[in-house]
Amino acid sequence: MKITVIGAGHVGATTAQQLAQKELAEEVVMVDVVEGLPQGKALDMYESAPVQGFDTMVTGSNDYGATAGSQIAVITAGLARKPGMSRDDLVEANAKIVGEVTEKFMAKSPNAILIVVSNPLDIMCSVAHAKSGLPSQKVVGMAGILDTARFRSFIAMELGVSVRSIQAMVLGGHGDSMVPLVRYTTVSGIPLADLLAADRIEALVERTRKGGTEIVNFLKTGSAYYAPAAAAAEMVESIVYNQNRLLPCSALLTGEFGLEGIYMGVPCQLGANGIEKIVDIDLTKDELAALSASAEAVKGTLSKLNL
Ligand code: NAI
Ligand code: 2OP
Repeated sequence: MKITVIGAGHVGATTAQQLAQKELAEEVVMVDVVEGLPQGKALDMYESAPVQGFDTMVTGSNDYGATAGSQIAVITAGLARKPGMSRDDLVEANAKIVGEVTEKFMAKSPNAILIVVSNPLDIMCSVAHAKSGLPSQKVVGMAGILDTARFRSFIAMELGVSVRSIQAMVLGGHGDSMVPLVRYTTVSGIPLADLLAADRIEALVERTRKGGTEIVNFLKTGSAYYAPAAAAAEMVESIVYNQNRLLPCSALLTGEFGLEGIYMGVPCQLGANGIEKIVDIDLTKDELAALSASAEAVKGTLSKLNL
């Protein structure tokens, strides 16, 4: 197993480190346009192997030749937002970057599975899908696991219980209109609504929707990367071990939830072939309306590109 991480910035390098520490591949290759950056970070990471005790080789390159024969690529190349910017402000610049890196990578690894991370996420999935020529099953986006992890963290902090006891699912586009499904959120099987007042739940939902901005406002020079990298690594793990974990991921919709033609966050089973199944769960009228509103926001940004 060889896995490529495209973009050796904050998210890319942290993802590569997680993949190596979990020994999810024999080799993890980082590529970036900046000369020396992937090489330096890869060597530094591999020098942690004797201490951490992992046998995954980590390499870095500016040349896609080094990525040849990869089974999976995690695409993190592109600009990150700064305070005052929305993810959608990145659309034109990142579409160019994601399009270019997808073509270069696919030329060397035509059968790989692509996990897209670059923002605006759902739109960049459409770009990678169009440029790769891959079936949509093999192009999947990371956002829902991150948004859900934020929601789970906030609930754990509010209730003073372990994060391990919180089950939740955030669907929709990776933007302010994302849809945390409160009805399906439980604490060890107990519905959240039985444990927390409605106004507190609404406050946590709102904090989740603004979770990315909260971090950007602290960091000022970029956006989150520890939790995003952990989320990307979870997707890789489910694919590498064919675990079929049911995870919220951005997938191309072909009628599920009454939507089609766009990538958006829905429950997906991730296995050896990528998206093994999209699970079209029953939603209430209000939940479906929220998902449709989120889809409209994704469509609006997608229409800015000529795909
Ligand atoms: P960063 O600025 O630290 O790293 C981006 C890297 O991409 C840089 O090293 C840069 O040199 C590289 N790059 C730029 N153009 C390239 C090209 N043509 N080929 C190869 N490499 C290229 O940014 P960070 O924090 O790592 O974020 C990366 C992307 O991931 C951003 O678009 C960000 O918005 C997105 N993101 C998405 C999340 C999600 O939930 N889907 C979560 C966190 C970040
Ligand atoms: C986040 O939600 C920037 O999309 C990224 O942190």
